[in-house]
Amino acid sequence: MGATTTLGLAVPVLLGQVQTGKVVASQIPLPPPFRVPLPIPPVLIPSRNPAFPDADYFEITQRVARQQIVPGVLTELWTYNGSYPGPTIISRSGVRTVVRHRNTLPVPTVVHLHGGHTPPGSDGFPTDLVYPQPGAAVPMKAMPGMESTGMHDPLARTSVGTRAYDYPITQRAATLWYHDHRMSFTAQSVYRGLAGFHLIGDAEADALPLPRGDRDIPLMIADRSFAADGSLYYPALDPAALSTPGTPDPYMGGVFGDVILVNGAPWPVCEVQAVRYRLRLLNASNARRYQLGLSPQPPGGKGFTQVGSDGGLLRAPVRHDTIEIAPAERFDVVLDFSRYQVGQEVTLTNQLGSGTTARVMRFRITRRAADATTIPAQLSTAEEVVTRQAERTRSFAFQNHSRRSWTINGKEFDPVHPVATPRLGSTEIWRFTTDFHHSVHIHLVQFRVLSRDGKKPGPYDSGWKDTVDLKPAEETAVIARFTDYPGRYVMHCHNLEHEDMAMMATFTVT
Ligand code: C2O
Ligand code: CU
Ligand code: CU
Repeated sequence: MGATTTLGLAVPVLLGQVQTGKVVASQIPLPPPFRVPLPIPPVLIPSRNPAFPDADYFEITQRVARQQIVPGVLTELWTYNGSYPGPTIISRSGVRTVVRHRNTLPVPTVVHLHGGHTPPGSDGFPTDLVYPQPGAAVPMKAMPGMESTGMHDPLARTSVGTRAYDYPITQRAATLWYHDHRMSFTAQSVYRGLAGFHLIGDAEADALPLPRGDRDIPLMIADRSFAADGSLYYPALDPAALSTPGTPDPYMGGVFGDVILVNGAPWPVCEVQAVRYRLRLLNASNARRYQLGLSPQPPGGKGFTQVGSDGGLLRAPVRHDTIEIAPAERFDVVLDFSRYQVGQEVTLTNQLGSGTTARVMRFRITRRAADATTIPAQLSTAEEVVTRQAERTRSFAFQNHSRRSWTINGKEFDPVHPVATPRLGSTEIWRFTTDFHHSVHIHLVQFRVLSRDGKKPGPYDSGWKDTVDLKPAEETAVIARFTDYPGRYVMHCHNLEHEDMAMMATFTVT
């Protein structure tokens, strides 16, 4: 943002913290845990549209809605189609998917398909705003766009009312998600409810004997706090999220809630049979990292068998006692509830939390049932990248550099000037260094983690990923191939407060 920035905020005291962020205390009594049944987000049915004859076509209206999240309390949300999480979209690898979004919210929006291999015009660049349709609650001329950030982006492709996001979906089966990506306001928009799952299927995944149907459950984990009136309590300078970008001190390091929601329900309970289930874990929290565990652990431990990462199936399963998951990461795991007794209750815990945030949800094992599933020793034949293919190495330092923002290589987000221009079709190694915890995400690509501090990758780095959890004062190297689509993309920290406070950089594939 250079000299034009208006984010005149003081730096928070962060040194010595395991993760950056601060809890916002709810102003309503918190509900008791493990009472609300786990909701499953509705699945959107595709239709045909003559304008896109070869595509599965979906429509989503972004609108204000009220939903009962805490029992007996109505919470106003910004939603995709009236629900939080938004509806799940299911695409087939090789089948073009078009999603037309209509914006009836009081603010501009941007939709990003996280993990998608998407052409730049549909990727949801943070300044490609969709302004509310005419007649929406706030008059157009009172609607801030770029102006509120003190910056002008001559390359922005804005639209009014609607936008059709066009996804070729040439990638393999994976658990993706879509969420708002408006420059400097992403944290507030996602916090208020703009997030949903987008799953991709393919023949390789279909052929596996893994759990499916109602034994294949997406779990969107997100922490939130509630204001006295039942609304979500985001500590913004401007509660309408109209004009003041970013998040003020002392929350610049991240906003933590004191309620853990799974699929929009507080500490829900899910009745399961004593069989294998596939759980698609997504950390959709603004800033909170989790270390998910099982209490009690099954006999012999290693309750989680990881079968997939951000970018799809692993080549071979990896077993874990706990899963560390940073904002925006996905872990596709199988849990075998036949390792427990019928009638037993198993709590999904968060070993990085305390008090109300030390628990996530609960499973109740109701009865025995037939189970034809297995976890094969080989899951996928996905191709590997090898280091010698890399044409060049670039280094990016993620830091709290100035007294008012988070930076990459000392610079605040600049949508116009790229920090890197990878050649179309080339393979590059990107080295990330950090001060604090940062959840680093690159658009367009799936990458492999090559190393941490020069040593081998960590236990949660397997498979193709689009987001990597950087530990404080650590150096991590990833390798990616920049294929198919020339144009302008971003990489950024997925701690959304860091992202909004400028920890984002433009790269242009040329
Ligand atoms: Cu999940 Cu650039 O975002
Ligand atoms: Cu993304
Ligand atoms: Cu960060």
